[in-house]
Amino acid sequence: MNAHHDISVNIDHAQASDSDMALAQLLELDAKVLASYLSELTDWLADLVHPDPARILDLGSGPGTGSLALARRFGSAVVTAVDISPQMLHRLHKQAATHGVAERIRLLEANLDERWAEIDEAGPYDLMWAAAFLHHVADPARTLAQAAANLRPAGLLAVTEMDFFPRFLPEDTGIGRPGLEARLHAATNTQPPHEWTDQLQAAGFTVEERRPFEIRLDRAQAGPALNDYAHICLTKLRSHATDVLDSDDLATWGTLLDPGQPHSIARRDDLGVCATRTTWIARRP
Ligand SMILES: C[S@@+](CC[C@H](N)C(=O)[O-])C[C@H]1O[C@@H](n2cnc3c(N)ncnc32)[C@H](O)[C@@H]1O
Repeated sequence: MNAHHDISVNIDHAQASDSDMALAQLLELDAKVLASYLSELTDWLADLVHPDPARILDLGSGPGTGSLALARRFGSAVVTAVDISPQMLHRLHKQAATHGVAERIRLLEANLDERWAEIDEAGPYDLMWAAAFLHHVADPARTLAQAAANLRPAGLLAVTEMDFFPRFLPEDTGIGRPGLEARLHAATNTQPPHEWTDQLQAAGFTVEERRPFEIRLDRAQAGPALNDYAHICLTKLRSHATDVLDSDDLATWGTLLDPGQPHSIARRDDLGVCATRTTWIARRP
């Protein structure tokens, strides 16, 4: 495990991997467009965690949209953001300064599949947050056992997963056969959504809530980042669909993803967001 509390010294010259940077950009746009959901989620957490948390751990923080939201919501907490990717942490380092919370965000580069040595030192934690992360680890049971061991008694773990990519387009996009996005989802969304209740209980947690958030935003609610966010999500989804859509649908997608075209996702004013995120609230007895 490799810890850097001042990562700017260590990674200023690091070459950012293209895939990490593309993912960071997607996650940052996701947090901008879904800001109302993130704020509802942290408000809900504030109702459940007592007293206000002093020490928070963000597992697999990525570029830290969750760390920043938690630091804003819990104004006296120190948030430790842990990620295996120094590039992700570097983005958080810059964002934390921009948001005026750098003093309260601690960065830790670590592989959470290994033993949590440096994480242990800074614990126990009052609140842990694992957003779109748990399905990445090699052994979730071991990760959850380490999370339980590093929470104070009665401390909370919030686990959040997205069911699948959001939907953005109207049924009829004005080109091609209607229902294209639904066909793309049906062809690529072949796995059931992640389900953590049993594993949380097996790790000794009491699962107090399992709450699906149904997110429906129109263009005005989603804000100006919507077109970029939709373009990136749908480009990523389209890359999985080459073998599953027919040639007419693939040609229509090509047009929708071409910013030079009048019907393109980049130019449309009829996009919205339709997504489901599920959060488990687990308490250490
Ligand atoms: C889909 S991203 C989610 C990031 C963030 N929680 C969010 O919701 O925006 C998953 C993150 O987990 C990190 N990650 C994956 N495996 C990891 C591991 N074994 N140890 C630490 N971080 C890991 C990745 O680098 C990535 O930043």
